[in-house]
Parts: sequence; C-alpha cells; structure tokens
Amino acid sequence: MKQADGLMKNIASPTTVWMSHGDQVADLSKDFEILASTPSCPYAAVKHRSRDFWGVQFHPEVTHTPCGEDILRNFLQQACGCTGTWAMADFLEREVERVRAQVGTDRVICGLSGGVDSAVAAALIARAVHKQLTCIFVDNGLLRKNERELVESAFRNHFDAELRVVDASEAFLSDLKGIEDPQEKRKRIGHRFIEVFKQAAAEVGPGVKFLAQGTLYPDRIESGQSHAGTAANIKLHHNVGGLPEDLGFELVEPLRDLFKDEVRRLGEVMGLPPTLVWRHPFPGPGLAVRIIGDITRERLALLRECDHILLEEIQAANLYRGTSQVFAVLLPIRSVGVMGDGRTYDSVVGIRAVETTDFMTADFCRLPWDVLARVSSRIVNEVRGVSRVVYDVTTKPPATIEWE
Ligand code: XMP
Repeated sequence: MKQADGLMKNIASPTTVWMSHGDQVADLSKDFEILASTPSCPYAAVKHRSRDFWGVQFHPEVTHTPCGEDILRNFLQQACGCTGTWAMADFLEREVERVRAQVGTDRVICGLSGGVDSAVAAALIARAVHKQLTCIFVDNGLLRKNERELVESAFRNHFDAELRVVDASEAFLSDLKGIEDPQEKRKRIGHRFIEVFKQAAAEVGPGVKFLAQGTLYPDRIESGQSHAGTAANIKLHHNVGGLPEDLGFELVEPLRDLFKDEVRRLGEVMGLPPTLVWRHPFPGPGLAVRIIGDITRERLALLRECDHILLEEIQAANLYRGTSQVFAVLLPIRSVGVMGDGRTYDSVVGIRAVETTDFMTADFCRLPWDVLARVSSRIVNEVRGVSRVVYDVTTKPPATIEWE
C-alpha cells in the first residue's frame, strides 16, 4: 500500500477543481475512504482502504483545475510508483529506430504544410532514413508573406532530405475566381491540393511506398477514433489541406501519440529553429479563410501586408509566444475615411488574436491598447486600400477562430 495521502499530496486545501457532470456517486462502499469533498459533492476524491484503487469525480486534466497536473503527477509517482525519468530524447531515439524498421530501404514522401507538426515529423524521418525521404511543399498562392521562403530556408538548413516546392498558385487562384461561398472555397482548395500532391508524388518515382504525416494524438481522437460526436463534427472541415486515406501509401506517423506541446519539445530536442517550433498554427486553406468574399491577387496582397504588420508588432511586443493564433482578416465591406485633404472609401480589416490550448474553445486575447493602436495606425498608414481596423472580441464558442 502506498502513502495514504498519495493522490492529494501537497495539494492546497481548499482548492478549485472543475466538474461538469450531471451524475455523481451518491453512496460510497465502506471499502473506500474520502480524500476530498465539496459541499455539493461528498466523494470528490477517494481511495480504496486496502488496494491500490483511486478515484476522482472531477476533471484533473483541464486547465480550469489549476492543481490538476499535480494530482496527475501524484497519481503516477505516489500511487503508481512511476519515477518520471522518461525524456523526449529517448522518444526520439526509439521513434527513429521504429521508422527505420518500418521503412527499410523503401522511399517516403511527406507533405510539408509550413506548420510545426509536419516539420517535426519530417525532421524525425529525415534523421531515420535521410535521402530516402522526399518532402513536398505546395505553394497554393494562399500563404502568408515570406512563408514559402521560411519553409525553404528552415528545411535546407536543418533537414537531411530532398525538398520539392510545387508552385500551384495559378491553379488554386483560378479555381477560386469569383467564388464567395466559404464551403465551396474549401471544397475547391481541398480537391486541387489532392490533385497537385498526387502528381508531385508520382513525379518522385514509382517506388514510393510510404507517406509520412504529422498526425497528433488529438487529431486521432478528433477524427473519430474515439470520443466521436460533436467534437468530431466540428473538426471535420479541418481536413481541408490534408490528404484522403486511400492514396495507396502506407502511413508513417511518428507523432501519433504526442500532444502539441510535446511535438514542440521534440522539435527543440532535434534543434529545429524556434521560428518553426513555436509557429502559430496556420490553416490548410490559408488566407482563403481569412478573406471574406472574392479572392483575388490584389486582395491577397493587401491582406498579406496587414497580417505582416500585425505579426511584426506582436513579436516586437514579445506577445507571440503568449498568444495561440494572431492574424488579420479582410472584410468584404468598405468604409469612409479621411486621408490628407481627401476622403477615402476603402476596406475594413479585422484583427483576431486568441488564446487556447486545444483550439476547440478559445478566448480572445486582451492585447494591450498601445499594441493595438500601433497595429491599427501602421496598417491604415502603410497599406493602401485600408481605411479602418477593428478588433474581434468574440470567444469560441459561439464564434469560430477563423472568420471564413
Ligand atoms: P475554427 O475556425 O474552426 O478553427 O475555430 C480551429 C483551428 O483550426 C484551424 N483550421 C484549419 N486547419 N485546415 C487546417 O489545417 C482547415 O481547413 C482549417 N480550418 C480551420 C484554425 O486556424 C484554428 O487553429
């Protein structure tokens, strides 16, 4: 029998926990003793008197339970006797071996999105099978300013593998011409991406057997492998920019058991640059979900400039790491302004900045007024065609993070 107070060791009393169920245990067997309770929940945490059984009726895993991580640590170390000596470097070594064993002498392709997941997956596989890996980066014409260059330079400096950049922006933009409906935009982008990727993969050669993907543990949950339901439905549209399952390749998914923060740690252990490891997520359909209405080269160029100014100011104010996603949105309305002696009638740009751990719910960031003021003043002064900047103060739910 482990220490009697194992689960609650060093947990302050009282403490706050998060419980969201309608049901609760009304009667406790006399084999159990109570470790914690609340006025409305007499058996909040319990342990078996003689056996190693422990129970809680609240959520220790959510951020609303501030001591949750300590409780989980106590469970592992006090109750289960784990030592906590696991290190990311061991995971890396083991996965590299596993990928080598899986791939053998065959070839692997990997689609790079510019995001941290595919980059870390590719870096790990490159470590395992070097030049047997070919990465494909599709420029869909919907990327942020300098994004393609950043991916290319990070790749060339840090990866021991081949990179193919496919410029398909013409095709994507002509598919999107005149399309305003968000679902139709997503559909066209999704189809085109699959077509372009398939062709690029075929050009790598007929001997490619494996497709590497940066699938994470939450992706597997959200795609319905467990806990299906509303969450899975909300996330369905996120497959845009991804690949269908029936491409005929065997999958290599070295990050399949990791959470996002662990992927970032793995990236650091592999020595990837912080600009890549700490990047905010960027959606597969890119700026198409941030331009409301028609997507044209001119509107893309305008949004890129606004977005670039915003990120420059966020970085200068040291706010990038403390925010989860920050971006500009181009709205389909115009508004009157004054510039010098004349009147203007130009576009409105929205700023979105959110904090979240899982991207299923999010809060808007309370950005300092002076940062917002600088962003706004720079955008209207430096970007021709914008007369007004607004800040989005909506949480998710009910709003989504992207505007579409
Ligand atoms: P929403 O807008 O649904 O977005 O609150 C939640 C998160 O998902 C990202 N997102 C996407 N990522 N393909 C992606 O790879 C997509 O089609 C897509 N749509 C939204 C969004 O940026 C946010 O991080």
